[in-house]
Amino acid sequence: MIYEIAPISFQDSDGDGKGDLKGIESRIDYLCWLGIDVVWLSPFFVSPMLDFGYDIADYCAVDPAFGTMEDFDRLSETLRRRGIRVILDFVPNHTSDQHPWFVESRSSRNSAKRDWYVWSEPSVSGGPPNNWLSRFGGSAWCWDEATDQYYYHAFLKEQPDLNWRNPEVRAVMAEVLRFWMRRGVDGFRIDASAVLAEDHLLRDDPVDPEAGDTKPPPQRLKHVFSDDRPESLGYLEEVRQVVDEFEHRVLCGEVQGKIDRIGNFYGNARPRLHLPLNFALLDSPWDALSLQGTIDAYLNAIPEGAWPDWVIGGHDKQRVAGKMGQAQARILAMLSLTLRGTPFFFAGDELGREPGEIPKDAVQDVFEKLVPGYGLNRDPERVPMAWDGSQHHGFTTGEPWLPMKGIGTRNVADLQKQDRSILHLYRELIRIRKKAPALCTGDYRPLRSRNDILAYERFTDTDRFTIALNLTHEGRLLEQIGKGSIVLSTRLDRTTVPVSGQHLLRPDEGIIIQMD
Ligand code: NOJ
Repeated sequence: MIYEIAPISFQDSDGDGKGDLKGIESRIDYLCWLGIDVVWLSPFFVSPMLDFGYDIADYCAVDPAFGTMEDFDRLSETLRRRGIRVILDFVPNHTSDQHPWFVESRSSRNSAKRDWYVWSEPSVSGGPPNNWLSRFGGSAWCWDEATDQYYYHAFLKEQPDLNWRNPEVRAVMAEVLRFWMRRGVDGFRIDASAVLAEDHLLRDDPVDPEAGDTKPPPQRLKHVFSDDRPESLGYLEEVRQVVDEFEHRVLCGEVQGKIDRIGNFYGNARPRLHLPLNFALLDSPWDALSLQGTIDAYLNAIPEGAWPDWVIGGHDKQRVAGKMGQAQARILAMLSLTLRGTPFFFAGDELGREPGEIPKDAVQDVFEKLVPGYGLNRDPERVPMAWDGSQHHGFTTGEPWLPMKGIGTRNVADLQKQDRSILHLYRELIRIRKKAPALCTGDYRPLRSRNDILAYERFTDTDRFTIALNLTHEGRLLEQIGKGSIVLSTRLDRTTVPVSGQHLLRPDEGIIIQMD
């Protein structure tokens, strides 16, 4: 499983209210206790931090707010020694406007790096070259007074898009990847993988007839010319080739909302990503029939032989325990850790973390600031990790960068003391999965969902497990089940209960049955 850590929100070591690399190092015992084998660190590179670090001003340097390169080397070395692999965020689509490359690019039309970014003349009638919208609101074009041209930014105007059509850009970004792989990192999660290239004719995006005016304004156009262009897939192939220069590295990538196209991001004859991130479980209606459809649709959409993955949390996603409640969050834990594929979760999901309360005057997220009123604020899920019951939950001795309110009393120390907590459930699921090849690399076979129970089998030639998840808050009868015994319940209160023929699942209960 891959455990996302946003360094700013994990553990502060110097009392400035922001998490840092030394802080992560001080929590390695916890990661080992939980059984984590891969951590994905979201950006800690030099950045003005307008977008949670996804606005990078130097790809190969640690921002002093997070520590030093020495801190990074020590952290990654210690993690590796303790059996945990490290993957980093790679943000190839855009830099910060403070990046020296952009400073040079915008200095003159004749600058050697002018073409490293996407510049354009105004449209014939004046104004932006076309109707493309920034994901963060307003036109995606920003007028540059000094050189009388527009530059393109898919996100903030302070995040100009790099021009991936330019081979120099591709070469310099390949060097960034090599720089980190030489330092020993095990792979990358590519940010915004699908938007690397835009239509070279700059054709207007059509209006989305289904969007109406309920959707946030940036989502009212269909981004057919500014997103998911075929050229981007070619660039991902090049990135993969660079990653393949080193042994045993993994390439994951964010491909938001593209389940029907997800197969393309794996690539077949021409490999692209190992793991295009699959958010389908989070987007699906939460009932057994919908979920069985969602799982099938995804598995049918990925190429034969491709390895699946299941995201249940992330720094852009609403915390699931807030959305579906604590009891069903346990079901999701069991589902994601028993399906075939790699689960991705976000630090705090294992605590059943609920979204924090962010008063208006404490909002940090640009999305909420620029497109208010649509519930887009990502601060609630980014509230720092709660370690214990002390002031600021053991996260910092200073003032936390986001208020730590509304997250309840759930913290690591307390939940470790409660034998049946969701934290112990995660740990147990991880442990069982590591022990049983059938649950990890074994085959998957869906069973027909009846009585609001989502059920499936995982098996090898020698072992077979049935997983049955009650998606309701009432008891439900599991029927037509063979002989076996329960090895784990989401309630953590029973093991080795024999099952044969039928079994009554309690409200919100999920079970793993080892079949005879
Ligand atoms: C995707 C990242 O996950 C998100 O947090 C960020 O705001 C955008 N890329 C823009 O950088």
